[in-house]
Amino acid sequence: MRNFNLITIIISIISVYLLFQISKSIAAETDSITNSQSLSKNQSIVSKKGEFELGFFTLDNSTNHYYLGIWYKRIPGQTVVWVANREKPATNPNSLQLIINNTLLLRQDSNTVLWSVNITRKLKNPILQLLDSGNLVLTEENKYLWQSFDFPGNTLLQGMKLGKDLKTGLDRRVTAWKSSKDPSPGTLNWGMDVTMWPQPMQRVGSKKQFNSGPWIGLGYGSKPTTKRQSFFSLFFISNEDEVYFGFHLDNNSVPVRMVLDQATSRRLYMVWIDSDQEWQVYVSLPRDFCESYSVCGPNSNCDWNKSVAEACGCLRGFRPNSAGGCLRDKPLNCESDGFVKYVKMKVPDTENCWYLNQSMNLDECREKCLRNCSCTAYANSDIRGEGSGCALWSGDLNDLRILPDAGQDLYIRVPASELAFCLIWKRRKKAILNVDQSKEEQEEDPEVKFYDLSVIASSTDNFSDKNKLGEGGFGPVFMGTLENGQRIAVKRLSTGSGQGLNEFKNEIALIAKLQHRNLVKLQGYCIQNEEKLLIYEYMPNKSLDFFIFEQTQRMVLDWPTRFNVIRGITRGLLYLHQDSRLTVIHRDLKASNILLDHKMNPKISDFGLARILGEDQATEITRRIVGTYGYIAPEYAIDGNFSVKSDVYSFGVLLLEIVSGKRNRGDQHQNKHTNLTEYAWKLWMEGRALELISEDIKESCNGSEALRCIHISFLCLEQHPHDRPSMSSVVMMLSSEICLPKPKQPALFVGEYSSSNKTNLASVNELTMSILEPR
Ligand SMILES: *[C@@H]1O[C@H](CO)[C@@H](O)[C@H](O)[C@H]1NC(C)=O
Ligand SMILES: *[C@@H]1O[C@H](CO)[C@@H](O)[C@H](O)[C@H]1NC(C)=O
Ligand SMILES: *[C@@H]1O[C@H](CO)[C@@H](O)[C@H](O)[C@H]1NC(C)=O
Ligand SMILES: *[C@@H]1O[C@H](CO)[C@@H](O)[C@H](O)[C@H]1NC(C)=O
Ligand SMILES: *[C@@H]1O[C@H](CO)[C@@H](O)[C@H](O)[C@H]1NC(C)=O
Ligand SMILES: *[C@@H]1O[C@H](CO)[C@@H](O)[C@H](O)[C@H]1NC(C)=O
Ligand SMILES: *[C@@H]1O[C@H](CO)[C@@H](O)[C@H](O)[C@H]1NC(C)=O
Ligand SMILES: *[C@@H]1O[C@H](CO)[C@@H](O)[C@H](O)[C@H]1NC(C)=O
Ligand SMILES: *[C@@H]1O[C@H](CO)[C@@H](O)[C@H](O)[C@H]1NC(C)=O
Ligand SMILES: *[C@@H]1O[C@H](CO)[C@@H](O)[C@H](O)[C@H]1NC(C)=O
Ligand SMILES: *[C@@H]1O[C@H](CO)[C@@H](O)[C@H](O)[C@H]1NC(C)=O
Ligand SMILES: *[C@@H]1O[C@H](CO)[C@@H](O)[C@H](O)[C@H]1NC(C)=O
Repeated sequence: MRNFNLITIIISIISVYLLFQISKSIAAETDSITNSQSLSKNQSIVSKKGEFELGFFTLDNSTNHYYLGIWYKRIPGQTVVWVANREKPATNPNSLQLIINNTLLLRQDSNTVLWSVNITRKLKNPILQLLDSGNLVLTEENKYLWQSFDFPGNTLLQGMKLGKDLKTGLDRRVTAWKSSKDPSPGTLNWGMDVTMWPQPMQRVGSKKQFNSGPWIGLGYGSKPTTKRQSFFSLFFISNEDEVYFGFHLDNNSVPVRMVLDQATSRRLYMVWIDSDQEWQVYVSLPRDFCESYSVCGPNSNCDWNKSVAEACGCLRGFRPNSAGGCLRDKPLNCESDGFVKYVKMKVPDTENCWYLNQSMNLDECREKCLRNCSCTAYANSDIRGEGSGCALWSGDLNDLRILPDAGQDLYIRVPASELAFCLIWKRRKKAILNVDQSKEEQEEDPEVKFYDLSVIASSTDNFSDKNKLGEGGFGPVFMGTLENGQRIAVKRLSTGSGQGLNEFKNEIALIAKLQHRNLVKLQGYCIQNEEKLLIYEYMPNKSLDFFIFEQTQRMVLDWPTRFNVIRGITRGLLYLHQDSRLTVIHRDLKASNILLDHKMNPKISDFGLARILGEDQATEITRRIVGTYGYIAPEYAIDGNFSVKSDVYSFGVLLLEIVSGKRNRGDQHQNKHTNLTEYAWKLWMEGRALELISEDIKESCNGSEALRCIHISFLCLEQHPHDRPSMSSVVMMLSSEICLPKPKQPALFVGEYSSSNKTNLASVNELTMSILEPR
């Protein structure tokens, strides 16, 4: 009896086991369902070799969010690659059915359709089959009707085509899931922009977010072309019927999938690493700041090798536009224009590409562009070998960047004047003329000075060391002697320096307009290829720092001379801030930038760092900090916030230095004080301010003038810019005995900065320039 019972139980267990096995094996053995068959919650079909499985799943274990989908069969953890009812999860999974009955549909409660294929007619002997590629295919008497690969979810698999069927208009795009628990479409999508020269484009909604660039023969424009992906390779097909891209696996036994991820706005190429039993992100795009679509705006170039703050720069012949990006400096002339060649470039967004010919060569391409006045750029369309093909653009050039390890040559149209061998600034007409024209003008207008590179080279003995007056952050300064005996100072801008063409032009444009006896006069400039030169009037008596800091020279500048220098600097600065037609902020005011003429009159030099402010702009946030330790105002150093009041701060430091003969930084001050400002303030508070005055000028010193200068300098050094006087107030304070306000503790800010704005601060020291310093 007992034995019988035991046997019965064993038999029951075996039969349950067999039943279970049988029902499973039916599903496992089939890769397809045919007409009148259906698939319900507990069932699935598996592709022939067992790569993929189609069935029902839930993402949050809830019983009322069921989806029909495809996942890798062999890989643990149910990696879903496609979902049918993305937007309509089943709420009653037990009644769920995928059914082929004349058409293919997913329904619950026998009449609620959750998903269906868009075929309205009655089907004859349809078969739904899951292939080992992961593609779910519906056929009718061996004729293809529908496939899941044409309706991608968030995943791209080998064999899928992203792009357009030009015959039917079908546009295959990948769309991200809203979240990892919600497969309904998010805003992030990726597909092919079918322009004249098609390019894969990632968008948020309809907004462009990341442009891979067009196919240039070896890869997409923005991909390194030499480095081969070791798990997969990309391809691009364009013909009369379709335009699409996708990837091939290099080794079929290693699963690779590309997933568009809403949370990170990235495309993740993931590889299944069998030994680690996990998906590893092999490539994650976009990779860097410059890959964000047109991050620098139109007509500007993004260089990732620079800090984020400096990555954007206008193309040659363009200037910054307040609305973002850059504008053309001067209009094109059409036939007489030329082209500037840029190397290692990603080509512009092909939305503005209006012509593509794969058989033209570069010369034909150039000709074609030159002949059409609205053509703004050209490039080879295929970079293999010597390069071939021709692509032409019109209008704005968008989404340009430098690709350090790849990219191609891009030719951008500019007016001929941008390319002239040597340029000269002409004061009256504010025009940049080429060599020949300016020679003609020279006869009628004696004020115009023409400098040819060869003239400058011979005047400085080919920039010989013995003519070198000093070396600054942007390059050396040479003394030159022209054939008529006239002396000039030549600032030779080193090409590797931070001063790009724009700063250079900025300086020229500014100084050209500024005429004041306390400003150094710019006489002209010269550009040839990489060579950029500024030609100034020569200042025989060097710079102020030579006289106030050098032991042997201090005596030369007695107090009346120093006071005269102070007043001169004040007037020059007032002119820059208020009296010229522009508001000009110097931004690098310091002793070495004050030059002295033969009568020891001060002249402010080096306007390359200045920026023009708009009339109603009191301050401007700059993304790039320039200046010098010890002189730089705190709000400028920390927040990049500069105004005329940051110059006033630097002037305050300079004032203390002139009176005391000590550097704000570098000198050993008494009582272990490491900076002049702190030391001076301490003496001031103790009523000992007169001790600050340089020993060398004590005899000639007018005590009340000197005290007044110290007092004014503390007002200039106030922490808050609005507490500092304007230069016009300073002029008044210096020239009359008006009562001065009581100073507050100055902003003691000359040493190391503790700020989070690291990228800005990194450049503070590098960009310092001291011109005409003694050898
Ligand atoms: C699915 O399987 C479970 C147990 O494995 C069973 O209770 C349920 O009735 C099945 N549902 C359908 C629709 O077959
Ligand atoms: C779903 O249930 C399984 C098994 O009970 C568990 O391991 C998993 O963490 C659950 N997932 C969620 C999202 O709750
Ligand atoms: C299949 O469709 C026919 C008519 O279109 C209908 O009569 C029949 O009930 C359907 N079968 C199922 C299982 O839904
Ligand atoms: C279904 O297909 C027809 C014709 O191919 C098309 O006009 C219609 O927009 C499609 N409907 C859906 C929901 O895709
Ligand atoms: C493909 O990958 C498998 C698994 O990593 C490896 O064993 C095999 O050698 C690879 N084959 C080739 C041709 O690289
Ligand atoms: C492409 O350029 C070649 C060479 O100039 C020319 O012969 C051909 O007609 C052009 N093709 C098209 C489609 O314009
Ligand atoms: C000139 O370029 C424009 C695009 O800016 C294009 O539409 C036009 O057809 C071109 N003209 C000729 C003659 O090629
Ligand atoms: C990028 O910068 C690094 C160091 O800052 C330099 O070594 C490298 O040559 C630069 N690459 C390019 C292409 O300018
Ligand atoms: C300057 O260099 C050029 C060519 O490099 C040379 O011909 C010329 O003699 C040099 N002049 C001087 C003064 O060294
Ligand atoms: C300043 O320059 C003039 C003219 O070169 C010269 O005579 C004078 O001695 C210089 N003064 C000083 C202090 O070097
Ligand atoms: C600098 O950092 C401060 C605070 O961290 C921030 O408020 C300010 O906007 C930053 N300035 C710049 C120019 O990034
Ligand atoms: C200036 O010197 C004082 C005294 O040593 C020091 O406390 C202060 O931090 C210095 N200022 C800066 C910003 O380095």
